[in-house]
Amino acid sequence: MSSMSARPLAIGDVDRYLDHVCAVEAESGLDGAGHSHAYTDSEPFDVEAGRDQEVARWSTEIDEVGWRRAWGLFDEDELVGNLCLVGGLLRSELHRANVGMGVTRAHRRQRGGSLLLATAIGWARRQLLIDWIDLSVFSDNPGAEALYARHGFQVVGRTPDRFRLHGRSLDDIAMTLHVARPGSDDVYGHGPHDK
Ligand SMILES: CC(C)(COP(=O)(O)OP(=O)(O)OC[C@H]1O[C@@H](n2cnc3c(N)ncnc32)[C@H](O)[C@@H]1OP(=O)(O)O)[C@@H](O)C(=O)NCCC(=O)NCCS
Repeated sequence: MSSMSARPLAIGDVDRYLDHVCAVEAESGLDGAGHSHAYTDSEPFDVEAGRDQEVARWSTEIDEVGWRRAWGLFDEDELVGNLCLVGGLLRSELHRANVGMGVTRAHRRQRGGSLLLATAIGWARRQLLIDWIDLSVFSDNPGAEALYARHGFQVVGRTPDRFRLHGRSLDDIAMTLHVARPGSDDVYGHGPHDK
């Protein structure tokens, strides 16, 4: 097994983070792989606009709407995986974050995705404001669903025929993780740390 490590990304990492996101997303749905995003080929990602948005969001405190944080998976100095946690756009949803992630194809099934996810969940556990992590995974991506299930995410809904991409109909599976804290009597976000 290679010696991969995971760490939070800083503003200086934004460019290579976006390069990595684009590289993973470019493979979405290709060669029998599951889809990891729902954009069609005629809706390319605007990297310039994306960079400004990332910088603003990475700099937003997590008790403010629109925050975002990213982590990188590294093989030595090479960025081989990315993960982002995204806060909501309403103050009333600041107790939740959404997760998205991707690992370079050659580095998959080496527990790197697991390391990234565990690292981000551990961070969320230390943020008393965050009680839930949500995500959306498509029905043609059972590997990703299995990864999330291994980390405690539960399926809370399924929207049939949510997207039609590359001639395929995709169901959208909603999963969520209650961010449990040792020693807390929190029950679904109504414990002592409830904000
Ligand atoms: C999903 C993804 C991030 C997993 O990353 P990874 O580094 O390969 O995951 P890990 O090696 O840590 O896998 C941990 C466990 O998750 C499950 N898992 C991960 N990928 C799987 C696959 N393709 N098939 C079945 N189970 C899988 C397994 O239980 C695995 O443990 P095991 O290898 O001991 O069986 C990676 O496949 C990826 O980047 N895919 C493209 C982008 C994507 O789909 N992102 C998620 C969008 S919702």
